Amino acid sequence: MSASLALSPASWATGSIRLPGSKSISNRSLLLAALASGETEIRGLLESEDTRVMLTALATLGVTIVSCGTDAYRVFGVAGCFPVKQADLFLGNAGTAFRSLTAALALSGGHYRLSGVARMHERPIADLVDALRGLGADIRYLGAEGYPPLAIFPAAADAGGERRIGVRGDVSSQFLTALLMALPLTGRAAEIEVIGELISKPYVEITLNLMSRFGIEVRRSGWQKFAIAPGQGGKSPGLLTVEGDASSASYFLAAGAIAGGPVRVDGIGRSSIQGDLRFAEVLQQMGAEVDLGDHHVVVRAPRCGKLRAIDADLNHIPDAAMTLAVLALFADGVSTLRNIASWRVKETDRIAAMATELTKLGATVEAGADYLSVTPPAVLKRDVAIDTYDDHRMAMCFSLVCLGGVPLVINDPGCVAKTYPGYFADFARIATPVIAIDGPSASGKGTVAALVAEHLGYHYLDSGSLYRLTALAAVHAGVAWDDEVQVAAIAATLPAHFAEARVLLSGQDVTDAIRGEQCSQGASRVAALPAVRAALLARQRAYRQAPGLVAEGRDMASVVFPDAVLKVFLTASAEARAERRYKQLIGKGMSANIATLLQDLQERDARDAARSIAPLQQGADALLLDTTDLSVEQAVAAVLEWLKQLRHPRAATV
Ligand code: DC
Repeated sequence: MSASLALSPASWATGSIRLPGSKSISNRSLLLAALASGETEIRGLLESEDTRVMLTALATLGVTIVSCGTDAYRVFGVAGCFPVKQADLFLGNAGTAFRSLTAALALSGGHYRLSGVARMHERPIADLVDALRGLGADIRYLGAEGYPPLAIFPAAADAGGERRIGVRGDVSSQFLTALLMALPLTGRAAEIEVIGELISKPYVEITLNLMSRFGIEVRRSGWQKFAIAPGQGGKSPGLLTVEGDASSASYFLAAGAIAGGPVRVDGIGRSSIQGDLRFAEVLQQMGAEVDLGDHHVVVRAPRCGKLRAIDADLNHIPDAAMTLAVLALFADGVSTLRNIASWRVKETDRIAAMATELTKLGATVEAGADYLSVTPPAVLKRDVAIDTYDDHRMAMCFSLVCLGGVPLVINDPGCVAKTYPGYFADFARIATPVIAIDGPSASGKGTVAALVAEHLGYHYLDSGSLYRLTALAAVHAGVAWDDEVQVAAIAATLPAHFAEARVLLSGQDVTDAIRGEQCSQGASRVAALPAVRAALLARQRAYRQAPGLVAEGRDMASVVFPDAVLKVFLTASAEARAERRYKQLIGKGMSANIATLLQDLQERDARDAARSIAPLQQGADALLLDTTDLSVEQAVAAVLEWLKQLRHPRAATV
């Protein structure tokens, strides 16, 4: 990915996203499956840098893990004993991997060295090391005291009996998580006491939930004491399916709350075990409309259009809380995010980074030791270049700013690969809606589509003209219309240019020529060739640009833009279409005969509907618009009304 990414102003976020797997669940599942006895198939594993780090580390430690299909891995558990007793592990900036492996390896009786990127070496780990030393572990700091890199040596033998340790809970809940997952390795009874207030409790709940799936029960007294009974080594549950990432979901749900919606995310819902799901509750408090299904969430903007400012303790959702800091730009007053001190020791000092970047956009920001107050600007600054501090969440959060209708630049966008390599492609899809319109010849779909595009300020794609241009270019090149290979080569490099209302082919004005009978026939012939359709696919998709696209033509809704938010099949009786065509021709001073026109249309309909490739038919998910008795204005109004209904369906019954 290049050094920066320019985001164009967007006005409407809508569509649906299948979430990548949860990072927290993926990395915990991998380690638990590796340490357990038996084979575990993990489905829906997140494919990202942080999980790659864990997969590589486990393989280095002698765990056999084989890929078995998309996002699926089979982990052969080592029953509590890593085969490799000496290893040097580089763990990037993956906190989930670093903390949990530190604990597991400290109790594994080997020599290990753990290091990461420079920022990882600035993230404190003393609380975990101290707790592990309390268990007899031999861990030494190789750099600054209290920070990675670490050297681990076999623990000294101890007297046995129940193990009791204390760990601080107010810097990172990952220390407790790491201990919980590693302690069963000792086979002995253990009790952990949390010293101080435990932060980010829902993440510990994820740990306990997953441990119980591996048959390891932890008795919990409040959030202070955690007891593990002896002899619970962990046994594979066989199959484990990773739910979608609730933190990643926050960007899309926020997009729906800011810019219309509906935005639907699939992969999390009522049944989710991730605390960040509760981000949806905060959106509700801000006035957004939220529908929570078992495995999906849908968000729409508040009916009044404006989000309410919030003042909230967000200790339970530290990651999704970052998304709220950017949402605060769109609220009706000062928003205060409290109890977020853990931000200071994450991928970057997130409180400082947020304050700096929000200020660049014109917000007034007050940053405390553990809180952030954001007063939105009257008008967002345009063309701001956002720095991302090698922090994936900074990049993802700030992409939302373009929904305020301002262009901006995200520096180092590639940092999203830590947890969501495909983020910007998914974001572009929901921030660039497509409306697909198809219908039979002379139904008026071109006119309606162009007017809808004009009304919305969207781009317009007349896909038929690309087939017409291909047919004409073939004639110019002396290539027969049924020469599939040659015509496809022409389509792939079509030197066509659309300027104002004119169409140019190799610089020559062919606006009228491509509408003639010869090009109509040629278009219909070349459009039946699969290689030609394939050659034009990427070109058509490239029309999808901010703020949106109205695409007209045969397979717009089915093949080219299957995720179009609105699919319209526009038709009219053959008689009405023949009459419209008749008036058109007469208007141009040409002679015409209604009966002949009607017969032509009926024959063409039959041919188009019978065609095996991209036949003319109303898709199952397309709305039928019969314009027989409608004026062009009425047809356009009907399409715009459907769009309005999409945003707020209940408006129809009010
Ligand atoms: O919409 P139109 O009349 O300009 O289309 C010209 C021809 O191209 C017509 O035969 C239908 C065909 N076509 C197609 O197969 N797929 C498209 N997306 C658009 C047009």
